[in-house]
Amino acid sequence: MTSLFEKCSIGDLDFKNRIFMAPLTRSRADDATDIPADIAIEYYKQRASAGLIITEATQISQRGKGYIKTPGIYNDKQAAKWKEITDVVHEEGGKIFLQLWHVGRISHTSIQPDGKNPVSSSAVKADTKTFTQDGYQDVSEPEALSVDGIKQTIADFKKGAELCKKAGFDGVEIHGANGYLIDQFLRDKTNKRDDAYGGSVENRARFLLEIVDAVKEVWPTNRIGVRLSPTGSFNDMGDSDPLTMFSHVVDQLNDRKVGYLHLVERFPGMDVGNDDLATINTLIEKWQGFYIANGDYDILKAKDAVQSKHADAIAFGRPFIANPDLPERLEKGAELNEPDEDTFYGGGAEGYTDYPFLSESKKTEAA
Ligand SMILES: Cc1cc2nc3c(=O)[nH]c(=O)nc-3n(C[C@H](O)[C@H](O)[C@H](O)COP(=O)(O)O)c2cc1C
Repeated sequence: MTSLFEKCSIGDLDFKNRIFMAPLTRSRADDATDIPADIAIEYYKQRASAGLIITEATQISQRGKGYIKTPGIYNDKQAAKWKEITDVVHEEGGKIFLQLWHVGRISHTSIQPDGKNPVSSSAVKADTKTFTQDGYQDVSEPEALSVDGIKQTIADFKKGAELCKKAGFDGVEIHGANGYLIDQFLRDKTNKRDDAYGGSVENRARFLLEIVDAVKEVWPTNRIGVRLSPTGSFNDMGDSDPLTMFSHVVDQLNDRKVGYLHLVERFPGMDVGNDDLATINTLIEKWQGFYIANGDYDILKAKDAVQSKHADAIAFGRPFIANPDLPERLEKGAELNEPDEDTFYGGGAEGYTDYPFLSESKKTEAA
């Protein structure tokens, strides 16, 4: 039986265990330049014992930004700072992918270049809020991307992927989940277009697949992952028939042989119905490649998921925020530090790089 602590690989890429770090926005980048903070070097270094680190979502353009203090990957200066991060992770024997992101409608005019409206598949405003310089505010009314705008955005994803190579990443994850731009094209609660990018499942999948194809010109397929949340309602999302929509997407990703599929099976704090679970399970059965499961996994569920071949690896989110040495703690059955939600987004070292390692907790106990 396969164990959570066993090595695994995707093509020529080896991972030392199956405990992966989920992408986690921590909002500590420099807001004027979108350059990751220096302290992010230490944060990722501390977590290099993960089989794979998937970085926080990182915008591929200024238009793609929707929250203050999230990092970017659209210029050389940002790539240079990311290189410092990938270097320390590699020195520690870890692997790291960057999550390529465009928020689409989950943004605010005060964050957009020239105070413009955010873009989306269609002009459908989300009933949700975002973090701005003036606090937590309703997102702004979006405008539908033109076809030229779509082509430009695909080119921006490709440029982001190229900069990831310069920055020394092991690969990239395309963020198609959680109600951001790609998801806004995929699902019919937001996509009301009547051109080649809207309507049928084939048309709604086109934007994602053109991004995958553009990124494939930069990275070998085993170094490209795709994250999806077919049943998630976070960011005011929904679809009238997720099974049909995402079955098509999974078929297409199978054809393209992308390195991994990463599903958000459950989003924190959101209910999951039996229909949703059945949809997720059908999609996983359809998927022929490496599968990363995520959402509310604890050690027992994670062990079971890997042993039963539900998943090849588990991405842990909140447990990795609070436990830099999560693999060691899970393997030893040690107690876990509890994450502090108040320091998830923004601030400095507190709640970011100051969670104790197991060795430190022991020292404190002995003192
Ligand atoms: C503070 C925080 C930030 C997050 N940022 C991202 C992100 O940047 N990209 C993403 O795809 N998901 C993001 N998520 C979702 C997580 O990756 C993950 O799906 C979720 O936390 C459920 O996994 P868990 O139960 O192991 O925490 C975030 C979640 C949290 C709590």
